[in-house]
Amino acid sequence: MQTGTKGTYAKNRAIKVRVSNLTKYYGDLLVLDNINFDIYKGELLCIVGPTGCGKTTFLNCLSRFIPITTGSIDVDGQPADPRLHNIAFVFQEVSAIPWLTVEDNIRFGLRVKRLPHEEIERRTERMLEIVGLTRYRAYYPQQLSASMEQRVVIARNFAINPDLLLMDEPYGQLDVKLRYYLEDELMRIWRELGSTVAFITHNIEEAVYLAERILILSPKPATIKEEVIVALPHPRQYDDPEFVKVRDYVTESIKWW
Ligand SMILES: Nc1ncnc2c1ncn2[C@@H]1O[C@H](COP(=O)(O)OP(=O)(O)O)[C@@H](O)[C@H]1O
Ligand SMILES: [Mg+2]
Repeated sequence: MQTGTKGTYAKNRAIKVRVSNLTKYYGDLLVLDNINFDIYKGELLCIVGPTGCGKTTFLNCLSRFIPITTGSIDVDGQPADPRLHNIAFVFQEVSAIPWLTVEDNIRFGLRVKRLPHEEIERRTERMLEIVGLTRYRAYYPQQLSASMEQRVVIARNFAINPDLLLMDEPYGQLDVKLRYYLEDELMRIWRELGSTVAFITHNIEEAVYLAERILILSPKPATIKEEVIVALPHPRQYDDPEFVKVRDYVTESIKWW
């Protein structure tokens, strides 16, 4: 199989996020069971696992939307802190802010961060260009196609130069053609900006298409079952025998818990 070893992969890479002994209970319900792993700087990491295993919970812990029970999450060597770190979020139900134009959607997060006016304008122009929406800057989301709206959301999130972009099954509800298109967009922007991305999905094919590395979670309570380095070059082909091998391997790994 075209998968590298962890040692080679991790060599000389800076650690962006370190998750140590992370455990999460909702009342008596154990959802995350002593999770340990690192996310490397500039990495595109996919996290896969069955529905209900705790993927969204995990992301919410990472962003500090919900308290963790025990353990720690450090970003750049310091406890994850929304006031300190730029962590951007793309939720399961993706939408642009309906009452703001395309450009104001992109400006939104920059204004929240109180960046200087010129910097806001500079970044907004750049993101409009990167996602190809300069001509549509004055449109409202309801005037756009679904794929254009998704691009607005991507632009809004990348605009803040996130230390970490967390995406929770962002394309789960979309038809296959649109999903393929947006996966390619994500790859392109990720490369151009060098961001660190953690992408959650229950779609194994999507993970193998995107990821440099895949973390496989067990059913609830989630532990890290295995990690797979996907050493295939981009752009990847779904029908490439090597692609199929990795996909089947991950599928089996999830099945045989
Ligand atoms: N706020 C909550 N209170 C209690 N239980 C919850 C809460 N959120 C999620 N759960 C439970 O935790 C488990 C994991 O949920 P979730 O993280 O949404 O899984 P996934 O995103 O992998 O589908 C599920 O059993 C779910 O019912
Ligand atoms: Mg979820």
